[in-house]
Amino acid sequence: MNKGKKIHEGKAKILYEGPEKGTAIQHFKDDATAFNNLKKSSVEGKGVLNNRISEHILNSLNQIGIKTHLIKRLNMREQLIKLVEIIPVEFIVRNIATGSLTKKLGIPDGTILSKPLIEYSYKNDQLGDPLVAREHIIEFNWASSLELDLIKDYCLRINDFMQGMFRGVGIKLVDFKLEFGRLDKAGNKEIILADEISPDTCRLWDVQSEKKLDKDRFRKDLGNIIQAYQEVARRLGIMHEEANISEVQFGKPKAVNLKKK
Ligand code: TMP
Ligand code: ASP
Repeated sequence: MNKGKKIHEGKAKILYEGPEKGTAIQHFKDDATAFNNLKKSSVEGKGVLNNRISEHILNSLNQIGIKTHLIKRLNMREQLIKLVEIIPVEFIVRNIATGSLTKKLGIPDGTILSKPLIEYSYKNDQLGDPLVAREHIIEFNWASSLELDLIKDYCLRINDFMQGMFRGVGIKLVDFKLEFGRLDKAGNKEIILADEISPDTCRLWDVQSEKKLDKDRFRKDLGNIIQAYQEVARRLGIMHEEANISEVQFGKPKAVNLKKK
């Protein structure tokens, strides 16, 4: 499928114009960044795995009635998607306290939360995606109160579904990040799930060993990043065939480049 002009290049993905109006092609890169671009590297094969894992999860969500931007996966690194107007908020759902929550508030790492906690971050790299309140989102017209109610329901449904899906393959869904967009539908705006769901955007711990099977392996220099992502794909029943995996040569991650902003 012919790609059009580049619309946007993010840290881990590139968006190109799609073959028809209202569509786009989402390309998954091997680039990995953390701490708002302070730590950068390339992890060979990551894009391919995230493309497959995200396809699997978004398709499964579609099957339970959650509308997503995914039309279909095109090849190893690309998906055809519906072009949406992205809401500039990252919706973070947490089941277990870790990461920035424990750092900011001094909550002991691994604390099980009594119910899922939803946090909002304003999507702005220059400001370092700051945590914001629902009131900021409404005040600055990033989303309406009605949209936020709907998105909260989606977040909780997605969390319930994904917790079960991962639990079934021996993985704890610790936390994850979602993005939503608006789709023009006969003059009305419909909210749909956008972006990706992958080990880049989730924290996944093995139930038995609590071994991290996600991007924390990169953030914390734990090594074996690709092996962990492959393990998630394998447990979900994706890329279980040797033939699939061998299409990509997974090398060692290249040296990490720490640069000051
Ligand atoms: P945090 O503990 O660093 O705030 O991250 C919470 C969850 O959100 C974790 O699963 C990683 C994911 N996340 C992203 O996908 N993108 C981001 O830019 C950040 C900061 C977190
Ligand atoms: N994606 C963010 C960054 O590049 C943060 C993260 O995932 O830790 O810097």
